[in-house]
Amino acid sequence: MTVLRFPPGFAWGTATSPHQVEGDNDASDWSDWENEPGRILDGSRAGRACAWWEGRAEQDLADAARRGQTAHRLGVEWSRLEPEPGRFDDAAFTRYARLLDAMRELGLDAMVTLHHFTLPRWAAHAGGWRSATLGDRLACFAAECARRFGGRVRWWATINEPSVLALMAYAGRAWPPGLGRFDVALRALGHLVRAHGAAYEAIHRVLPRADVGIVLNAPRFDPARPRSVRDRAVAGAQDWVFTGAVVRALARQRSLDFLGVNYYGRYAVRFDVRAPAMLFGRHVQAPTVRTEANDWGQIWPSGLTEQLVRLSRLRVPLYVTENGVLDAVDALRPRFVVDHVAAVHRAIERGADVRGYFHWSLLDNFEWAEGYRARFGLVAVDHATQRRTPRASAATYEAICRDGAVDA
Ligand code: FCB
Repeated sequence: MTVLRFPPGFAWGTATSPHQVEGDNDASDWSDWENEPGRILDGSRAGRACAWWEGRAEQDLADAARRGQTAHRLGVEWSRLEPEPGRFDDAAFTRYARLLDAMRELGLDAMVTLHHFTLPRWAAHAGGWRSATLGDRLACFAAECARRFGGRVRWWATINEPSVLALMAYAGRAWPPGLGRFDVALRALGHLVRAHGAAYEAIHRVLPRADVGIVLNAPRFDPARPRSVRDRAVAGAQDWVFTGAVVRALARQRSLDFLGVNYYGRYAVRFDVRAPAMLFGRHVQAPTVRTEANDWGQIWPSGLTEQLVRLSRLRVPLYVTENGVLDAVDALRPRFVVDHVAAVHRAIERGADVRGYFHWSLLDNFEWAEGYRARFGLVAVDHATQRRTPRASAATYEAICRDGAVDA
């Protein structure tokens, strides 16, 4: 066994997003979407979710801190904080400020995501990311959050996974608005990247020394048949649209104090003339982690090393802002955690400036179109009773956080 030790000050945490854990919100595009029959695979709605809004957040985060975590990535729900354009909800701001204060007392540094897939209803009605002007609204919202939360926030993440959002909501039909239009998705992606730039500047105008970044999902896209020219071309095209082009635009924009990297797995891409919406590349990796609505790819820890090393060329600090596996019975997760944390270490050995790891997720939560069936938590949640039961992997991760090291 080799013990891989991480640099002092490395951030150890877990990640959540507001819509998936808070509950009690009826102001977003997802609230409407969940009310349409057939949209959520198990017929559920976010509903009470993990009851964070009514007060469970502090308890769950105290538990995370007790288990050796030093940071947490959470989000603030735009639709709650700005229920009408330009009108901010003081009570909601106060609730988040209280939570951020509690995190400080617990010794948890906060990474706050401003836009994690959900939109205020008014923004969705105005066209969502089809509209070129939504970025200005996001920038105003970001500035308001910077003014009100200020130094309570250690890292600001403007937008979560713009490529995934563009794909699932605009190219695909699984998330609102479910357009099924690839051309619109590309336009939306452009708007999202520019919106990040606007939010980056807006936060810096209020807090000049803030650490502001964006969170990208960066899977590996490998040709299914490495010697096939067509497989290589379509794998390269998917990687370019999903990751490469976005990274290049961000680098040109000079709008990164850090980059958040979400990594779940690897896709083996095979040329298929019948898959125009997938840029003619079908995903054929096996085994893979998937449901009817989504495919997180094949578990492939070395891909995380590769992506971190590749993204380190941006010369900004990197954080693994999500990494996890859908696994209700925890058969895969303990090993998954160890192998991926070790993969992060290998990236650091190869020169990548990685400063933290946030596992997805602290606890089972509302997994978008999957509803409550897809379970990503270190802690299992019975959503009927709100009972929490740590899985074996929670102890695995706790040991890593406490030691700042992993036995690989
Ligand atoms: C990521 C999302 C996150 C969660 C995980 C499983 O793409 O950012 O909200 O759904 O997948």
